Amino acid sequence: MINLIPIPYKSESKKGFFLIDDGFKACSDFELPLLKLERADDGRLVIKKDSSFGNESYSLDVTEDCITIKAGDEAGAYYALQSLRQISRYELGKRKVPCCTINDRPNYKWRGMQLDESRHFFGKEEVKRYLDLMFMMKLNVFHWHLTDDQGWRVEIKKYPLLTEIGSVRSFTQINGWGSTDIIEGEYGGYYTQEDIKEIVEYASQRGIMIVPEIDFPAHCAAAIAAYPWLACRELNRPVPGYFGGIIPEKKLGIKDWNRTICAGKEQTMEFVFDVIDEICQLFPAPYFHIGGDEAPKDEWKKCPHCQKVISDNHLKDEEDLQGWFNNRILEHLKGKGKRLIGWNEILAAGNLDKTVIAQYWTPQRDKNAEKHVNTGGSIIMSNHKSFYFDMTYGLYPLKNTYNYSPVNFGVNEENVKNVLGVEGEVWTEWIDGREKLDLMIAPRMQALAEVAWSAPKNKSWKDFKARLDNFKVYYKLLDINYAVDAVSLPKNRIKRAKIQSKFMKGDTHLEVKLNRELKRKGEQ
Ligand code: ACM
Ligand code: ZN
Repeated sequence: MINLIPIPYKSESKKGFFLIDDGFKACSDFELPLLKLERADDGRLVIKKDSSFGNESYSLDVTEDCITIKAGDEAGAYYALQSLRQISRYELGKRKVPCCTINDRPNYKWRGMQLDESRHFFGKEEVKRYLDLMFMMKLNVFHWHLTDDQGWRVEIKKYPLLTEIGSVRSFTQINGWGSTDIIEGEYGGYYTQEDIKEIVEYASQRGIMIVPEIDFPAHCAAAIAAYPWLACRELNRPVPGYFGGIIPEKKLGIKDWNRTICAGKEQTMEFVFDVIDEICQLFPAPYFHIGGDEAPKDEWKKCPHCQKVISDNHLKDEEDLQGWFNNRILEHLKGKGKRLIGWNEILAAGNLDKTVIAQYWTPQRDKNAEKHVNTGGSIIMSNHKSFYFDMTYGLYPLKNTYNYSPVNFGVNEENVKNVLGVEGEVWTEWIDGREKLDLMIAPRMQALAEVAWSAPKNKSWKDFKARLDNFKVYYKLLDINYAVDAVSLPKNRIKRAKIQSKFMKGDTHLEVKLNRELKRKGEQ
C-alpha cells in the first residue's frame, strides 16, 4: 500500500530508501516558486519537463540515489511534489523516503470545492488555508459563492452600495431551520477587488482555478436591500438575518429571505451585465456561475415588466422567462469567452441554450439534469447525498462521499464523458467558524479527492480507511479539526437518525461537541 491520498493511477513500492541529507537540493526545468529548496545542477531531486505527459499528470521515481519527477506542466510537477510530501513525511521530521515509482493522472478535469461566504464570512487567511488543503489533495477548482440573500461579499465599483449596505445584516439566525433564535448585532465582511486579485493569484500558483458564483435572478436579497429598484416591486427591506425555515416563516409571517430580481426591466439587465463585467475582470476562469437555483416566480407573475417580456417574446411561462434571462447572460458571457454554469433547476426552462453547464445538486433526482448529461450536455456532479458537506455525518456518513459514482445518479455509462467532474459543497448557514468548517470538510475532502482524482478501478474503502488513518498526522500537524471515526462514520442507524433529528430541531453543533468530547478521550 502506497501511503498516499488520493491513491495514484499506478504505483509500485520498492526495496530501500532515499536518504534526505543536509545538502538536499533540486534541479528543476520548472520555476516552481513554492518549492523552497536550494537549486543546484547536481541536485538529487531532479524535476524534468516532459511533454509526453498530459496536463496535471506526472511520474515520480524514488531510488536510493535520486528522486526523479517528470511532468508536462507546472501543475503536474507540483502534484508530484505533493505526493512526495506525503510519502516522505518530511514535515514530520522523517528523512528516509521509501523507494517507489508512481505514474499518476487525474480521473476528472473538474475537482472542486465550494465555499459559501455569504451566510458566514471567513476572510482571506481562511480562504488561503482552504486552498492549501485543496492543493494537497490535488483539487483544482475553487467555486466561490460570493453573493446570496444574507450578504454581498465582493466589491463592485459601479455599485458601491452592494457592499456598503448589502454586506451587512443586523442580526443572524441561529439554532437551525426551525428556530426563531437570533444573535443581535451587525454581521458583515467583504472582499475588495484587490483582495480578490490576491486570492486569485494565490490559487493560480497552486494550480487552482477560481470560479465565482454571483447569483441571479434569485438569492438576491442583499443586492435588493442595496438597490431596491432591482426587484419587481420597490420595497425597502433590509438584508435578511434569517436564512429561512418553515417555523420562522409561520411565526414571523416573513417568507421573503430569498428575493428575486426583476427579469423584465432593462435596468436590471444592465445591472447584471455591469456586475458580470467587473467580476470577469477579476477572475480569468473561462466559467461563470450564476446560481439560478430556487427562483421563486410569484413576483414575476404579478409584475407588468416581467409579463410584458413574456408576451413580447412569446414565452410559455415564468420558467421560460428565466430561460430567456439566462440565455441573455449566456450570450454576454460567450462574448468574453466564458461558459455559463447554473444549478440544475435552470434546466426546467424549455428554451434554455443547450451549451449551459448544469451543476446537479438536488436531493431529489432530476429528470432534466439526467437528460441533459445523457444527450451530450456538460455537467458537474454535486449530488446532495454525497457532496453536501454541510449536512451532518449522521445523515451522510463519509462512505456516501467515498462510494460515489455518477452512474448511481442517472448518468449512463457511455455519457460519463460528459461529466466535467465532482465538487463538494459547503453552505454555511450553520457553519459559523473554523472549528465546524474543519469538521464538515475533514475527512470528506480526502474522500472527494479520491473520487475526483483516482481511477475508479483503484478505489477501495478498506484501503482508503487505512491510508486515512496514516493521514491523520497531517490533520494534527496542520491543526485541522477533523471528524474522528465515530463521528464521520456513525455505524448505528438509530444513533445516526438521532443526530440528524437533533440537528433539525436546532442543535446545529451537536457533532462538533461530540467530536470535541471524543478527541478529549483520545479517539481517532
Ligand atoms: C443549493 O443548494 N440550493 C444549490
Ligand atoms: Zn418583474
